[in-house]
Amino acid sequence: MTTIGIIGAGHIGGQIARKAVELGYDVVISNSRGPETLADLVAELGPRARAATPAEAAAAGDFAVVTVPLRSLPDVPVEPLAGKIVLDTNNYYWERDGHIPALDAGEATTSGLLQEHLPQSKVAKAFNHIMSSQITADGTPAGTLNRRALATASDFPEAAELVARLYDEFGFDTVNMGPVSESWRAERDRPAYVIRQNAAELTENLAKAPRTI
Ligand SMILES: NC(=O)c1ccc[n+]([C@@H]2O[C@H](COP(=O)([O-])OP(=O)(O)OC[C@H]3O[C@@H](n4cnc5c(N)ncnc54)[C@H](OP(=O)(O)O)[C@@H]3O)[C@@H](O)[C@H]2O)c1
Repeated sequence: MTTIGIIGAGHIGGQIARKAVELGYDVVISNSRGPETLADLVAELGPRARAATPAEAAAAGDFAVVTVPLRSLPDVPVEPLAGKIVLDTNNYYWERDGHIPALDAGEATTSGLLQEHLPQSKVAKAFNHIMSSQITADGTPAGTLNRRALATASDFPEAAELVARLYDEFGFDTVNMGPVSESWRAERDRPAYVIRQNAAELTENLAKAPRTI
């Protein structure tokens, strides 16, 4: 069975873990304070889940999810993620993360920053423009009328394909934005951000996104 290494066990990390376990994935989940602080979450998730350090979760994952505040990206372990697909849920909140001039100027993307930090990994944007509670609530079977769609972007087609497969299992359609340099289209405060939309609506909203806010 596939193991997902999850770095970050907050709103999004916990929700991805819940849905993944329900679908039959094994998860190894981590936070900044240590595995012992995740005992309640792991007990809730059941035998398919265990808590670990970020480096252990990264090493254990067939692929990984990085879902920490953007300011913590420099702490994400590099070596154990080499060669792996890494899903990036992160958004830039300068109020929380501090100002990052390249993002303020529209010259970088949040996923691009993670890709630079993980040069040997295959980063793909995922689950960044959906509220955490909706990850387990809004999924519907493929073919459902007006099925909710989520965006991805990656410089590696196999990473975008993995996200599309995972989205489908979670109950969502996929719109592929292209390389990570295009992933700003689904970033904070753009038209596609945290609203329910089907694939046609998401495509339209991504197309009309302004580069800077
Ligand atoms: N909340 C949403 O609905 C939502 C939706 C889409 C995208 N996002 C984005 O997804 C990311 C995560 O959001 P969230 O709401 O899940 O955040 P959160 O609830 O604040 O959880 C953050 C998690 O990251 C962990 N963490 C922080 N620094 C770390 C480090 N250096 N190493 C390992 N783990 C670390 C925290 O662990 P400790 O508690 O031990 O510090 C915590 O488990 C953010 O970029 C956010 O903007 C959030």
